[in-house]
Order: sequence, then C-alpha cells, then structure tokens
Amino acid sequence: MKSLKIVALGAALALSLAACAGDGAGGGSGESSGAPAADDGTKTVGVAMPTQTSERWIADGKAVEDGLKAAGYEVNLQFGNDDIPTQQQQIDQMITKGVDLLIVASIDGTALANQLDAAAEKGIPVIAYDRLINGTKNVDFYVTFDNYNVGVQQATSLLVGLGLLAEDGKAAGAESGPFNVELFAGSLDDNNAHFFWKGAIDTLKPFMDDGKIVVKSGQTDIEKAATLRWLQETAQKRMEDLLTSTYSDGSKLDGVLSPYDGISRGIITALQNAGYGPGQDAGLPIVTGQDAEIASVKLINDGVQFSTIFKDTRKLATQAVTAAESYLKGEEPEANDTETYDNKVKIVPSYLLESDIVYANNIKSLLVDSGYWTDAQVASGQA
Ligand code: GAL
Repeated sequence: MKSLKIVALGAALALSLAACAGDGAGGGSGESSGAPAADDGTKTVGVAMPTQTSERWIADGKAVEDGLKAAGYEVNLQFGNDDIPTQQQQIDQMITKGVDLLIVASIDGTALANQLDAAAEKGIPVIAYDRLINGTKNVDFYVTFDNYNVGVQQATSLLVGLGLLAEDGKAAGAESGPFNVELFAGSLDDNNAHFFWKGAIDTLKPFMDDGKIVVKSGQTDIEKAATLRWLQETAQKRMEDLLTSTYSDGSKLDGVLSPYDGISRGIITALQNAGYGPGQDAGLPIVTGQDAEIASVKLINDGVQFSTIFKDTRKLATQAVTAAESYLKGEEPEANDTETYDNKVKIVPSYLLESDIVYANNIKSLLVDSGYWTDAQVASGQA
C-alpha cells in the first residue's frame, strides 16, 4: 500500500516537474502551486488562511499544507493579509485555476458567498476551517473547536484567578469580591467571537448578578467590547481609554476577560504603561487569553498573563485533511455535531475538538510534553 503510494507520488512529481520545465510557469508569491490541477491526475486543494500577523494562522497553514502533501495532494496556500478583498480574490483565483477542494479560514465570515457560489457551480466542496462561513448554502463542512466551551473556559479561568472559583474551576473559591472586571470580545465579523462571548458571559452572569463581579465601565455589550480584526493595538487603545474613563479615580481593576492572546498582550501593555505592576501580587489584574501563542505562554510562565486556552491546531489541521480526503474520495466526512453551527441558511455539519485551560502550573504537561512548544521557547517567548 505504502510503496504503491510512493510510486504514484513519484510519477506525479516527475510529471509536474516536466510541466514546470516546459512552460516555466511558477506560482505567485506565497503560493505552493500555481499550476492548474489535475493534468496528471493529482488533485489540488486551495487553502485560504486569514493572516500572517498571528503565529497560529501561520502554523495552521503549514500544518494543513504538510498534511495534504503527505496524503498525496498538491496545495495552493494563500494568506489574506486580514483584508477581505484580498481573500476574495485569492479564492476566486483558486477556483479559476481549477482546485478540487477548498479549505477556508475566513476573515469576514459573511463576505464569501459569491466565491462559494462559484465553487458550487464547479462542484468544488468547501470546508470552513475554524471560522464558520455564514449566509451561504455552499459550505459543506466545518472543522473547529467547541467554541462556546472555549468561552466558558476563558471565564472560568478568570473566576479561578480572582479566587471566586476553586482551582478545579468547580467549587466556590475563597474570595467573594466585589471585583472590578472589564470585558473584551473578538472581531464581530468572525462567528467565533459570538460563541466565545456567549460562553463567557453565561459563566460570568451569576457572579455579575450577585455583585461579586462589577463591570465598572458599564460596557457589557459585545458591540462595545469588540475588537475589529482581533488587533492588539486596537485592544491596547480601548484598555487605555477604559483606564482613563473609569479607573482614574484610583479604583483598582482586578480582572480582564480577553478572548485572544494578541488582545491580551495589548491589554497588558496598556496596564503596564499605566503603572500596574508586573506580577499579580504587585497589582496586575488577572488577564485571560486564547491560542497559547508563545509570547503569551512566556507571560503566563512569568506570572504576567494569567491564563490562555490551548486549541491544538495540529489536531485541527489533521481533521481538515481527513475531511478533505473523504470528499476527494467521493465520500462524506464524519461529523460529530450536526446541530450547533447554523450559518443562517443551513446547519453546517461539523467536527468539533476540545480545548484546555493553560495556567502557569500546567504549561509543561499541556504544551511542552505534547511537543507544541519546547522549554526553550517558553523561556524565550519566541517560536
Ligand atoms: C478566531 C480563532 C481564535 C483566534 C482568533 C484570532 O477565529 O478561533 O482561536 O485565533 O480568531 O486570530
């Protein structure tokens, strides 16, 4: 079986090398393959990722590309630079070039309906990667994490950090507050932002209702809390504004719900610039996060950021490749959720993965022992 595959791969490679030598055509920058699919029978998968400003999407792109190549497919991988027209154009080009399947992590989940119509006309299956694509019937499958539960975990870690919940995240903690907390959300055009927010708010609500948590700014709507494109600088600016508008009377901020590590680092920078101390004891609030980005894992290790959520993107990439292989063999991929992800036109069959809360005391067991980061990377904060 294995040797047959290698022979087939070798033949495909020889053919595609011959094709390249013949016309000299190469891919544009950042492309893994600019060649039209299928002359030699090798199938090509178009992979559209949102941005390279966050290391997770670079890692996702590479992991999906590696997995597809190992399975014998050609890959056309593009990053959209967080710019909607760029991503639309990249997907248009993939379709024109004749890819056999699309894997898309959207920038704006509502902006790709035209592209997906064109894909459907050509019979190209579409897998939404991590972020759901809304408002179209032409998204076939969705691989992601249990995004509501990610929000629950973010809020749980905040409550643990404040001492309102015990370390196990279940029993009541030793503290009763009241604690001043501010809330941040992700980008409103990303469907995930709403799931994270809902999971978090449902978890915090009982504590807000009984006065143990006070959102002193009063900014408890997702529209107010949102961070367009999940940008660190945008979050830093909002935190600075909140400190000026709400905490310049000397009152102390105890915790910040942050939905993503880049946002967390913007928040922490604003707090440090305003004189909040480097360690929790010295007064830095409890700040949550998501993605286990290496810069934030170091901050957690150093006692600066309190927590993050680990979503093993290697597993997500594997799941995307498995689903792609099913479609390319003419089969339906296996879903484990057919109820949750309604994209306003249909419920998209999904495969959901589980996530974990990272605290300083489990960096080693969750991230280092699993090979996600090395000890040296955790110490340096560099990938
Ligand atoms: C979300 C994703 C998060 C985080 C965020 C910012 O869609 O689910 O894990 O990466 O985007 O990139």
